[in-house]
Amino acid sequence: MKTAIVPMSQLTNEPFASVICYPKATPSEMQVRIEELQQLGVEVVEFYGKTSAHALQVYGKGYVGIVVVAQVGGERLALKMQRVDSNRESLEHEAKLLSKANTVGVGPRFLAVTKHFLVMELIEGGSLEDWLQTHIDKIEVKAIVEDILEQCYRLDEISLDHGELSKAPKHLLVNNSDKPYIVDFETASTMRNASNVTSVCQYLYQGNSEVCKVISKVLGKRNSNELVAALRKYRKNRGRSNFEDLKKQCLQ
Ligand SMILES: Nc1ncnc2c1ncn2[C@@H]1O[C@H](COP(=O)(O)OP(=O)(O)O)[C@@H](O)[C@H]1O
Ligand SMILES: [Mg+2]
Repeated sequence: MKTAIVPMSQLTNEPFASVICYPKATPSEMQVRIEELQQLGVEVVEFYGKTSAHALQVYGKGYVGIVVVAQVGGERLALKMQRVDSNRESLEHEAKLLSKANTVGVGPRFLAVTKHFLVMELIEGGSLEDWLQTHIDKIEVKAIVEDILEQCYRLDEISLDHGELSKAPKHLLVNNSDKPYIVDFETASTMRNASNVTSVCQYLYQGNSEVCKVISKVLGKRNSNELVAALRKYRKNRGRSNFEDLKKQCLQ
């Protein structure tokens, strides 16, 4: 896997073009995208990160988008690029829901969108799973988990359902200042019942993932009957007091 720091004038060359237009560039698709990148003020694209796309490094890759670092006005930002083979119309729906999440202090800061690109704050760090490999201090882990639960509660309050938090390994990131972020509002919706708190609890406490194991080891085993009861109560009535009771079961 190679890293490359590429100015706009060279993006139409391979192998860069076929990452911008993943999985395969055509001149006409590339032309459309270059114009959008110019409109967004992108100056440089950095191909680097822990994931790969073709032979290049990228920050992240999902079924809808590829995330790379873009330099805009000298600042390093996250650029989500819609995959050509995704079945989505555009990234505009995601932009709208990310902006809504931002109103309650959740998600990377949204900056700009075009049909195929979304520019947002870059979360430098790694996944929560990675973070838990090196942070096993009880107070620190508690603080991160509490922050995540509070963010989910705020999303529940505005009826914004993330949709992919029960299997969250790629959607919970922690930056280098130990602040957790929920990313990817692509499958989010305001039309479903918001179940962010319950979904994230499933992910953190109820599976047998690596994350569950570490949390249980650091915070101690939960009383699973009481946790299930608190989850059920919260699901019925998502008020603050039920949330506080649930938090107690999660963090005590
Ligand atoms: N703002 C961001 N900063 C850093 N990494 C990000 C950011 N947004 C997404 N990522 C990483 O890129 C991956 C792919 O982005 P994501 O939005 O999940 O795409 P998809 O909609 O295709 O699943 C994510 O799982 C995450 O690891
Ligand atoms: Mg994703």
